[in-house]
Amino acid sequence: MHIATLQALLSPGGRALLGQLEQEYDGGSALALSDRLRREHPAELVAAAMTQLDLRRRARDKFGADADVMMFTPDALEQATRRSVARHRAGRLRTHGVASLLDLGCGIGGDLLAAARAGIGVVGVERDPLRAELARVNLAALGLRGEVVAGDVVDQDRGGFDAVFADPARRDATRRVFDPEAYSPSWSFIRELQAGASCVKVAPGIPHDLLDDAIEAEWVSDGGELKEAALWSGRLAGVRRRATVLPSAATMTETDNPGGAVVGGPQAFVYEPDPAVIRAGLVTAVAALVGGTLLDPRIAYVTGPRRVDTPFARGYQVTDTLPFREKALRAALRERGIGVLTIKKRGVDITPEVLRKRLALHGDATATIIITRLSGKAAVLLVDPLPTR
Ligand SMILES: C[S@@+](CC[C@H](N)C(=O)[O-])C[C@H]1O[C@@H](n2cnc3c(N)ncnc32)[C@H](O)[C@@H]1O
Repeated sequence: MHIATLQALLSPGGRALLGQLEQEYDGGSALALSDRLRREHPAELVAAAMTQLDLRRRARDKFGADADVMMFTPDALEQATRRSVARHRAGRLRTHGVASLLDLGCGIGGDLLAAARAGIGVVGVERDPLRAELARVNLAALGLRGEVVAGDVVDQDRGGFDAVFADPARRDATRRVFDPEAYSPSWSFIRELQAGASCVKVAPGIPHDLLDDAIEAEWVSDGGELKEAALWSGRLAGVRRRATVLPSAATMTETDNPGGAVVGGPQAFVYEPDPAVIRAGLVTAVAALVGGTLLDPRIAYVTGPRRVDTPFARGYQVTDTLPFREKALRAALRERGIGVLTIKKRGVDITPEVLRKRLALHGDATATIIITRLSGKAAVLLVDPLPTR
C-alpha cells in the first residue's frame, strides 16, 4: 500500500467505502462485491479497502476489538506484538514508574498503543514512512495520544525519556538459530540501549549466554504458547530470569527456584511446565511448587503426589503405565476401547501422527498418553488431563 492509498482510505469517501464493505462483505463472493463497488470507486481504492478489511479480521486474534478500527499491512501485522503481551509490558513499565517512553522501531504500533493506553507519554520512531503513518493513524483511531517520528533510530535523540523500548525486526524470520546480526536495529545498538533503562523484545530462543548478569530476561507465554522474551535493563531489571504466564500474569523467577530437583519415578500426577517456565530454566521451580521430582534430569516433566492447580504447568493424573512396544501398546489401548488418542512426548524420537496411524485404533473412548524417558528408557503413561482453571 502506498501512503497516497492510505490517505484515500482515510478520506470521507474511503471511510464510507470501508464501512460499506464491513456491512456487506460476509466472506462470500469477493469478486462480485468488488465488481459492483468498482463502478462507484477507483479500482485501487476498492482493492485496498478489501485488503484492509481482510487484515482487520485477521488482526482480531492479536488485537481483539481494537482491530476493527486499526489499519495494517500484512507484514507489519505479522510482526506486531499482540495486545495481551503489550498490555502486560506496559503495566510493568508503569509499575516501574515509567511515565515517558521512546519506542524505537514502533511498526504499526502494537507496543506503542498499549503503552499510551496505560497512560505513558509515548514517542515512536519508525523508518518505514507507511508504518509510521499507520502508527499515527492507529493512535488516533483508538483515541490515544502519542507522537511518531518517521526516521532511523540511530538518528534519534534518546535523552529525556524514562525508558526506551525496542522490538528489533528480524531480517530472516525463518532462521532457527538466533543471529544477533540479523536484527534491525543491530545488536550493538541494542547493547547501547541496555546501558540504561530499557526493555527489548527478542526471539524467545535467545541463548542464555547472550544475557549478562545485569539483564533481566522475561519469557512470556499466552494461553500456553510461548510468545517472546523481553530483556529488561538498568533500573527496570530486578531478577535474572522470569517466566510470565498470560492471561493470569502469574510470574515466577529464580528466587522461586531451589534448583537441583531430585529425579524419581512417576507418582500420581505429572506436570508439563509452561513453555515460558521451561525457557526461563525454571522447571525445578515447578517441581518445588508441586512438592515433586523430575521424571528425567534433562526432560521437562515433573511428577508429584498431589494435585496442584497452577498456571505454571498443565497437570495430568496418571492412571496407568503402559508398555512402549508398539504391539503391546496397541493391545493395551484397544482393550480399553480407546479410539481417539492424544499423544504428548518429550525426550523420545517418535512422531505422534505416525504412531497414531500405525496404532490404527478404533473405539469411542478418548485418552491421552505421555511418552517419555523413565530411568533412561522410553515409557508410556496413560493420563487424564486435569481441568484448567
Ligand atoms: C518487529 S517490528 C516492531 C513491531 C511493533 N513493536 C509492534 O508491536 O507493532 C520492528 C520495526 O522496526 C523498524 N526498524 C528496523 N530498523 C529500524 C531502524 N534502524 N530505524 C527505525 N526503524 C527501524 C522496522 O521497519 C519495523 O517496523
